[in-house]
Amino acid sequence: MDINKIRKDFPMLNNNKTMQGHPFSYFDNAATTLKPKCVIDKICEYYEFYSVNSHRGDYDLAQRVDDEILKARDNVCKLINADEKEVIFTSGATMGLNQIAQGLKRFLSKDDEILITDAEHASNVLPWFRIASEIGCKVNYIPLENGRITIRNIEKVISSKTKIVSIAHVTNVLGYVNDIKEIAKFVHGYNAYFVCDGAQSVPHFKVDVKDLDVDFLVFSGHKMCGPTGIGVMYGKYELLKEIDSLLLGGGMNTEFDLCGNFGYLKTPFKFEAGTQNIAGIIGLGKAIEYLNEIGMDNIEKYERELKEYAVTKLLNEVPEVIIYNKDSEAGIIDFNYEGVHAQDMGTLLGSYGICVRTGEHCAKLLHNEIGTNSTVRASLYFYNTKEEIDRFVEVCKKGRDFLDVFFA
Ligand SMILES: Cc1ncc(COP(=O)(O)O)c(C=O)c1O
Repeated sequence: MDINKIRKDFPMLNNNKTMQGHPFSYFDNAATTLKPKCVIDKICEYYEFYSVNSHRGDYDLAQRVDDEILKARDNVCKLINADEKEVIFTSGATMGLNQIAQGLKRFLSKDDEILITDAEHASNVLPWFRIASEIGCKVNYIPLENGRITIRNIEKVISSKTKIVSIAHVTNVLGYVNDIKEIAKFVHGYNAYFVCDGAQSVPHFKVDVKDLDVDFLVFSGHKMCGPTGIGVMYGKYELLKEIDSLLLGGGMNTEFDLCGNFGYLKTPFKFEAGTQNIAGIIGLGKAIEYLNEIGMDNIEKYERELKEYAVTKLLNEVPEVIIYNKDSEAGIIDFNYEGVHAQDMGTLLGSYGICVRTGEHCAKLLHNEIGTNSTVRASLYFYNTKEEIDRFVEVCKKGRDFLDVFFA
């Protein structure tokens, strides 16, 4: 991987000095990623040269839009090893999870159970509680073992009542990579549906839905160099045929009558009601091409090295730092500086041009596991460098005289 070449692809990494004149270091990639010029250009190209609607026209430009959407869907299919009819464009992981929950509702009855963990993002908690309250069934938690899901712990809570298990492939605060293949196999042994939240995995390493044998997978384009407002819901064809679409409207029906009776189009269109986020779809397609050029295996390897480098350096040089996930695989470092509030630490880093996120990171239940409500999260991507980490560690050291820094 030629990191200098890669960094040139990102306008934000080239133009950006912060207001205080410090170099810009972006360590908030679990929230959203920067966009390479080729993705920005591709989106602009749509708006400048063929910004017409899809599915609806017989003229050449309309055909071009349909071709571009087809290509983007094909890129997604190849990325996750899915078939075309199994890949649905959504507005993001959140919408995908809401759609899946509402869709699976028909298979639930009172007294059934849904299993999640307390490390899930809000998007993989609240939709399940909503359907549970609608049906009168329960949401239960798989206890974690040092931040990880183990079969032994699933065994403690799974039963014949369990109808759905929904977990993150990679947790967004601690960055543990769950063994989805093993877990999906185990869950299927109980005839339960297995939903995988891939928001923090698909951008960072190869994910193969057939190999993992997940029933559903969701992810967001903006966390993988694509635009905001676009994501993907993968579902096994047989299941997609069974469940209802959350959204109804144009583009998803074969016909409807004056009483509102309607027929569904085949998947994926059944789930894509209304005018789609065309620029988003095309931008995501380009982002996937860009990631493929770099290579998902290279991205994974580089990020793991970078995370290890950062953890080792922090532990060796800043003893006041408490790291909550030293041993997790993903490029996420979740920490606090002894005696300094996470938000203050975030402000300190920000004042040196280093962007991190602080707080609960939308995983409000996780404090059960780590015993604190607020942490600093530095999340890396393949365009970050060891030099940036060196500077980050130097600024972390300033936590020692934090009060001096701000009140001098
Ligand atoms: C693990 C996980 N799931 C779901 C989401 C929701 O993604 P979005 O806000 O793009 O819908 C996020 C976002 O941070 C996430 O990290």
